[in-house]
Amino acid sequence: MDSNKVRQTFLDFFKSKGHVIVPSAPMVVKGDPTLMFNNSGMAPFKDLFLGNAPIKNPRIADTQKCLRVSGKHNDLEEVGVDTYHHTMFEMLGNWSFGDYFKKDAIAWAWELLTEVYKIDKERLYVTVFEGSKEEGLAFDQEAYDTWKQFISEDRILNGNKKDNFWEMGDTGPCGPCSEIHYDGRSLSERKKVSGATLVNNDDPQVIEIWNNVFMEFERKADGSLVKLPKQHVDTGMGFERLVRVLQKKKSNYDTDVFSPILEKIEELSGLHYRPDDEEKHKAQLIINIAMRVIADHIRAISFSIADGQLPSNTGAGYVIRRILRRAIRYGYQSLNMREPFMYRLVPTLANQMGEAFPELKSQKMLIEKVIREEELSFFKTLEYGLKRIDNVCVELSNQHKENSLVDGKVVFELYDTYGFPVDLTSLIARGYGLDIDEKSFLSHLEEQKNRSRAAATVDTDDWIFTAVQWRGEKGQTVEFVGYETLECESYITRYRKVKSKTKELFQLVLDVTPFYAESGGQVGDTGILDSPNDIVQILDTKRENGVIIHITDKLPENLTAHFHAKVDGEKRALTQSNHSATHLLHAALRTVLGTHVEQKGSLVNEEHLRFDFLTFQSNT
Ligand code: SER
Repeated sequence: MDSNKVRQTFLDFFKSKGHVIVPSAPMVVKGDPTLMFNNSGMAPFKDLFLGNAPIKNPRIADTQKCLRVSGKHNDLEEVGVDTYHHTMFEMLGNWSFGDYFKKDAIAWAWELLTEVYKIDKERLYVTVFEGSKEEGLAFDQEAYDTWKQFISEDRILNGNKKDNFWEMGDTGPCGPCSEIHYDGRSLSERKKVSGATLVNNDDPQVIEIWNNVFMEFERKADGSLVKLPKQHVDTGMGFERLVRVLQKKKSNYDTDVFSPILEKIEELSGLHYRPDDEEKHKAQLIINIAMRVIADHIRAISFSIADGQLPSNTGAGYVIRRILRRAIRYGYQSLNMREPFMYRLVPTLANQMGEAFPELKSQKMLIEKVIREEELSFFKTLEYGLKRIDNVCVELSNQHKENSLVDGKVVFELYDTYGFPVDLTSLIARGYGLDIDEKSFLSHLEEQKNRSRAAATVDTDDWIFTAVQWRGEKGQTVEFVGYETLECESYITRYRKVKSKTKELFQLVLDVTPFYAESGGQVGDTGILDSPNDIVQILDTKRENGVIIHITDKLPENLTAHFHAKVDGEKRALTQSNHSATHLLHAALRTVLGTHVEQKGSLVNEEHLRFDFLTFQSNT
């Protein structure tokens, strides 16, 4: 079964079980301060789990483009070194929003794997949550009893909180989970050592393929767990791993998800990808790792650019830049690539995945162009860096001192500014008979981590609900009336404190609001909430997970008072005019330069507009 068929079979199966098939949400997340990228299939549905948005379809299935590079779920430095972790990956998922629960989810997972994909049952293991005293959570008996109907009990394993209680991040929806693992070893190996002992033990041949999460709780900022109003199912199956199992390969990179890209890398570098030789030959291992890194990273970068996230120096853009630079560095260091090569992989990728993800085809030119420019500038940076380390080494060698080390500060500068990994610097230094001062490098690194941690820390308290009776429909988001009117009567339904290093602010949610939340580049409204005893200044309005949030630096004394909400009308009118002008400008650019002109970002406020776009050629 080729990979496109594997994906389609999953979607068709859940369609037959009454699920609505939806396209992947963009990989890059906007409007959620807790996430830069979708890191799991469930992330785009967070609002539905938390009850912040109305549930239109209680059963959904999709394949979601995900990116994991740091934090809770992955480490960039591991990708490419092993054969089954990725930065960008697809997560196949079926979802129940307050509809079916453990019994159906488990039965369907089993049916799909063993009857439709026909995976050998003797190679499957499942895990259930063993419970946690510290959280006050019990053993998942229901999941265990359901699994017992399908699989022998020696293949149902207990899992601890780390493996079997799934959380999206530090806060948010979460719950116990049940994973399905596949043992890809030969019969003789399986006879010798039971797969049960290798589950969740980092064995590259005994891998998790599917996670079924039973969302029952919300993790609050203070660490407590609160039961969700409804129970949901969130499942995530690693598409690349599933393809590997079905194509009976030892590595994700040997499947047709990656092989066309690896072949192209072989062609561009004149070297070969030979996974079978890597245990015996270190030189081949180095080449293989570099090729895996590049094959993995080109996907992350291309999908992210197609979603409108270009490499930059901050936030999500910086993550993409780091991934791209890591790939270039591996090409430079291990495959002797001396000029841009990543952008030349884009047509192969678009060709292979463009059916399922048309944005790769429609944005191909843009993706190539952006990557090539990044590559050109990073190759220059690499050259500067090489010169810098050469100069330092020559100077040190000329001093003819015993045991002199390359200063850790220089090693750190090369790492931080030029993206040089420590082992590259160390290799170059060794060429001059020198060692690097690793201890001092590590302390510079630690210092920098502390600096950025301190700068980025924002403490967000949990929402506190006021006693105000909800006037709208229950479970609905805030009612927005700001297109029809700039003033209305409002109550505060909840509020919370947000503290950063420099200031303390409060966020308010109103039941009905005329305040327009920042979106599409247009700044949020400002204005006041007026009550007989209090005036609250609204400094900004934002949208977070579908909820309109009003920002102020002072809470009113009486939070349950009846307020007259009033938007600064003059500012809104000027901003709106500039927003309209943005659309006119976009239309004009498409007429003059061509329809390929895509908006890549914009800022619209009461004073001016900024419109970011990319173009390749001019028709004029
Ligand atoms: N949220 C779960 C995971 O990412 C299942 O989709 O593993």
